[in-house]
Amino acid sequence: MPFQNRPSRTRCCIVLLVGIMSLLVIILVVLAVVFAHERKEISMPLLQWKGRGTTRNLEQVILGRCYNYVTTVNPQLRDKDCQKIWETMQNAFIYKNPCNITEEDYQPLLDLASHSVPCNKSLFWSKTNDLVHRYTKTSHNFLTLEDTLLGYMADGVSWCGNPSSPGINYESCPKWNECENNPNSVYWKMASKMFAERACGVVQVMLNGSVDAGAFRNNSIFGSVEIFHLDPNKVSTVQIWLMQNIGGPQSESCTGRSITSLKNILEERTLSVSCEDNYR
Ligand SMILES: *[C@@H]1O[C@H](CO)[C@@H](O)[C@H](O)[C@H]1NC(C)=O
Ligand SMILES: *[C@@H]1O[C@H](CO)[C@@H](O)[C@H](O)[C@H]1NC(C)=O
Ligand SMILES: *[C@@H]1O[C@H](CO)[C@@H](O)[C@H](O)[C@H]1NC(C)=O
Ligand SMILES: *[C@@H]1O[C@H](CO)[C@@H](O)[C@H](O)[C@H]1NC(C)=O
Repeated sequence: MPFQNRPSRTRCCIVLLVGIMSLLVIILVVLAVVFAHERKEISMPLLQWKGRGTTRNLEQVILGRCYNYVTTVNPQLRDKDCQKIWETMQNAFIYKNPCNITEEDYQPLLDLASHSVPCNKSLFWSKTNDLVHRYTKTSHNFLTLEDTLLGYMADGVSWCGNPSSPGINYESCPKWNECENNPNSVYWKMASKMFAERACGVVQVMLNGSVDAGAFRNNSIFGSVEIFHLDPNKVSTVQIWLMQNIGGPQSESCTGRSITSLKNILEERTLSVSCEDNYR
């Protein structure tokens, strides 16, 4: 028995040894692959831009605002799915080059999150940010873009993607003048366009008469996007409220040059216009 046992024991040990060695080789190969992968990610740095990076805790900020909006600000929208809205928004830009965002990227989000504004309630603005939002907070007669779900979620927030991991750039994002098709600009352009398209009845525009370059600037979102998407079949009048700094210099009134040019553009589009100095 011992004689027969020996060779079989040796064979057993050799098989065991070969087995262990193959296992070691496999482990080493796996480790090498993982390590090389990590090194590749480290060697692909984040793209660098001149604008501020993605807002920290973006997901929590967007989700929190969305839930707040649909439960307390505008409960008529309680059926909106905030989790889905966040995922759709994220899919529009993560892992993408932030200079290459298209309207198609955001279309699913706009389809999910946009909603209509009652007639006579749309309020547009340019260069009157503080005043107009102080106004809509105290008077619930009017809604600006920032009082709709899309505007409310994104107001003051910044975000952009990055082609390599982790897919979101928290360090920097492109400014408008670095590339026009960045995630923020495309978002606001589309949201503004939709806000204007849906306006009906009498629409209000609050402009700043104390801006040197003129109360109406044709390169503003209002001057370049919104006025061209008001539907003359739905909008009866565009009412301009021209605000001046109280006690400050009054540089333009309703008969001023830029207001006249705005009136001409609107009337050419067969929209009727009225203007009021220092509406209160
Ligand atoms: C932007 O997208 C276009 C088409 O999808 C592509 O041809 C181009 O290379 C992209 N540019 C960058 C900088 O990613
Ligand atoms: C909108 O305002 C116009 C003019 O003030 C008025 O005739 C119209 O009935 C209003 N529409 C709604 C829906 O309130
Ligand atoms: C109008 O613009 C001036 C200069 O940009 C600014 O200081 C002022 O606060 C603005 N006024 C309103 C009502 O927003
Ligand atoms: C905007 O206005 C400026 C002058 O105020 C004019 O030179 C320019 O052509 C206008 N741009 C557009 C797109 O209308």
